Amino acid sequence: MSNIKKNYKKIVSKYWQKTDSLIDASVPNETLIRLIGNLKFKYKRKRVLDVGIGDGANLIEFKKRGASIFGIDIRKKKIFDFCKKNYLPRKNFYISDLNYNFPKIKRNFDLIICKDTFYYLDYNRQLPFLKFCKKILNQKGYFVLQFIQAELKEKKKKKLFDYSLSKNFKKEKKYHEKNNPVNILTFGRIKNLINASKFKLKVNIFDVSTHLKNKKFVTVNRYLVLSH
Ligand SMILES: C[S@@+](CC[C@H](N)C(=O)[O-])C[C@H]1O[C@@H](n2cnc3c(N)ncnc32)[C@H](O)[C@@H]1O
Repeated sequence: MSNIKKNYKKIVSKYWQKTDSLIDASVPNETLIRLIGNLKFKYKRKRVLDVGIGDGANLIEFKKRGASIFGIDIRKKKIFDFCKKNYLPRKNFYISDLNYNFPKIKRNFDLIICKDTFYYLDYNRQLPFLKFCKKILNQKGYFVLQFIQAELKEKKKKKLFDYSLSKNFKKEKKYHEKNNPVNILTFGRIKNLINASKFKLKVNIFDVSTHLKNKKFVTVNRYLVLSH
């Protein structure tokens, strides 16, 4: 597996530092917001932490719904710009490369999100990371862990409006962007990690996205809700 490469941590760090000045054009994730809604989670006066904030679109959505928002990310400029643009207190945001350090956080959270980020952690950091999240999650809180489970590539030209994935698509071995150090994890690995962390698996769903620029790919996104 490529994530046991000795220099994996450095590859991840270099990749994300290079994108620190890029402007994302993201939107809050609909599945995520609906999933949290189905948990009957009330945002008002709750503390929500996003690990791997991206451009912060999900955090802004949580704020609109009444939550106090917090974030962790490897990218310094992204965090600075996000706080400045949205008038947010810098002390609620932690700049940290999770492959090396977990930030020292004294407060607890009602909701923790880690979306599209977990697989940038080195193999040996994944279980410690889950334990770190468990420690800062309130007893009645939720931890939403989302990751890409698989990518499918079009194998034959589909007819207009055809949606059959089994007929037209084939599972890819690697992530479509060659430079992106994302490591698609097997579900067996995730299951073992969850068991070892002693989190309870409360919800387990997936959706698919077909909006990649190269329309030949379909991404299978897994969403897990974990609790104490
Ligand atoms: C693919 S983006 C996902 C952003 C957002 N959560 C979303 O779903 O749109 C991955 C995020 O994780 C951050 N990240 C990647 N590796 C990291 C690391 N080792 N430590 C902390 N943050 C990291 C990146 O800077 C980026 O914001």
